[in-house]
Amino acid sequence: NIRTLSDRAGRRIDYLRLSVTDRCDLRCSYCLPKGFKGFEEPAQWLSFAEIERLAGLFARLGVSRVRLTGGEPLLRRDLAELAGRLTAIPDIADLSLSTNGTQLARHAPALARAGVGRINVSLDSLRRERLARITGRDCLDEVLAGLAAAQAAGLRPIKINMVVMGGVNDDEIDDMVAFCLDRGFVLRLIETMPVGETGRQAGYLDLQPVRRRLQARFDLVDSVEPGGGPARYLRSRDGAFALGFITPISQHFCETCNRLRIGVDGALHTCLGEEGSVALGPLLRGQAPDAVLEAAIRAALELKPLRHEFREQPHKVLRFMAMTGG
Ligand code: GTP
Ligand code: 5AD
Ligand code: SF4
Repeated sequence: NIRTLSDRAGRRIDYLRLSVTDRCDLRCSYCLPKGFKGFEEPAQWLSFAEIERLAGLFARLGVSRVRLTGGEPLLRRDLAELAGRLTAIPDIADLSLSTNGTQLARHAPALARAGVGRINVSLDSLRRERLARITGRDCLDEVLAGLAAAQAAGLRPIKINMVVMGGVNDDEIDDMVAFCLDRGFVLRLIETMPVGETGRQAGYLDLQPVRRRLQARFDLVDSVEPGGGPARYLRSRDGAFALGFITPISQHFCETCNRLRIGVDGALHTCLGEEGSVALGPLLRGQAPDAVLEAAIRAALELKPLRHEFREQPHKVLRFMAMTGG
């Protein structure tokens, strides 16, 4: 690729997060409020053809990694078909999926056939009642079945995303380590971000002390793992276990940010910590030529913040995480 997307700080964009729906079958406490109904109208959703066109354009501008997100992406009908269309785009070398896992058992084989490589699955607790309290319903068996099916379908690596909340599930980290070690999953511990009032109320916990404790206890060394995201990894000396930390608050990673996000309606989000977005949906529906889309993307990128201000301005982002897919 001769043409690339770089922002004013010289950060090169090669990773696109595509939200294919803002809907979800769960209501995780840190993400969506109970009883939330304010989802985007289906008429505003980008079609598969529009998503494919955008992904192709981004690929020509240097994007080689695409992650499908939601809401819960598997609620979008025929997602595996979309995945197949995206893996067929030259230069997209890495197509991945972030899912809550509840529908994964049904979809894992088709996703693997479509060329989805890596999947990240949310799982904040292994205790049935606790997980139900966090997610809004009892879904443990579904998620465990989804993980088993994903493994059987050959999707790998499988990463477990655990959002660690003080006083909620922080006593379960060691159990989660044992679970992931046993099954060959990469565990990632995530700090809650104040995205939406839900994110602000979730119980932020600084993960640096947790990191120091686990590093000493399991004799872990710095490691690089497959992926292109902000996690910093440790691995056991025998190679058997990898543990990632996503610490946007205690140790942010914005200087290496490589990503843009597209919402289900085609809103281009330049940063998770920014409330505003640029509407690409109307351009796509209006059959705007590639040059016009590219100019809109480059103009938006000029305004990409150098970093989030989650600490300084915790009330800045009103939208919920399901609108951008994390
Ligand atoms: P890979 O590295 O490709 O496996 O993916 P990822 O870790 O970037 O994606 P995933 O969807 O699993 O996200 C895990 C957590 O990281 C979620 O809580 C996301 O909100 C968070 N995250 C991902 N990208 C960013 C980012 O650019 N900024 C911030 N602040 N958080 C991010
Ligand atoms: N803070 C941190 N991570 C979050 N996620 C959703 N909401 C938040 C939040 N407020 C995570 C989910 C999922 C990933 C895509 O984003 O747990 O694993
Ligand atoms: Fe990039 Fe914004 Fe995330 Fe920082 S918070 S890593 S700038 S998207």
